[in-house]
Amino acid sequence: MALRYALIYALSYKPVDDISYDRQHGTDTSGIVPTRNLDIADDSTRWQANLFLASPARITRYMIEAQLGAESINPEDYSFVDYGSGKGRSTLVAAEYPFKRAIGIEISAELTAIARQNAERVKSRCAAPVEFFCTDARKFSLPEGNLFLHMYHPFGQDILREVLSGIRDQAIASEQPRRILIPYLFSVAMAKAVFHEFPEFRRTRDVFCMNPQYRWTLYEWVPHSPTGDGANNSASLL
Ligand SMILES: C[S@@+](CC[C@H](N)C(=O)[O-])C[C@H]1O[C@@H](n2cnc3c(N)ncnc32)[C@H](O)[C@@H]1O
Repeated sequence: MALRYALIYALSYKPVDDISYDRQHGTDTSGIVPTRNLDIADDSTRWQANLFLASPARITRYMIEAQLGAESINPEDYSFVDYGSGKGRSTLVAAEYPFKRAIGIEISAELTAIARQNAERVKSRCAAPVEFFCTDARKFSLPEGNLFLHMYHPFGQDILREVLSGIRDQAIASEQPRRILIPYLFSVAMAKAVFHEFPEFRRTRDVFCMNPQYRWTLYEWVPHSPTGDGANNSASLL
């Protein structure tokens, strides 16, 4: 039995060991930084931060292509924003597509500096302008227009709640009609429960790819749900 588990472990995908993107591009987007080692000054913010671990490039590509195809989306009409961008891999993968902008926001100054160096290394191959902002996600002002807001389980429930309420308030305040899609990777029950508090973020679907670790849920901002009975309200939290 022990041998069987050892074999399963040996053959399983280990994201920390996946350096395929870096090998191809000469970047440094891999590795892991435990929460306790993140350079976040405020204790309660660090307490709610999730560790740095990059999402696999193929998962980000799959997620983007699934959305572009299923919704007939032209990336030129959308800005991509990665909440908690770490060393920037997801943002740089998004920049392979002609988004209006590819933006990463990250609270750690050390990780943001690495992300900016990575952007320099791949800039000739980017189809979208790339920017990295070093800021707490709660303080980020959304760009105008349609948005693709990527989240790879970046923080705990209190911060997620504040971030979603900020997105909601900015969306309500915008003068032009806009579409806001939020793919949430590593869709755990905690995150679903927080989204569930915001009926305007309608849960449109759950997608499994590769393994359950990379389950993601797509939410869409639906400002004026006439009945309030969107998928988010009726769906199970699991
Ligand atoms: C799981 S990593 C995601 C990395 C990247 N998004 C990806 O997909 O490859 C989560 C990141 O969120 C960042 N983070 C945590 N709390 C944050 C906050 N309040 N504001 C901005 N970034 C935050 C962490 O520093 C970490 O780099």
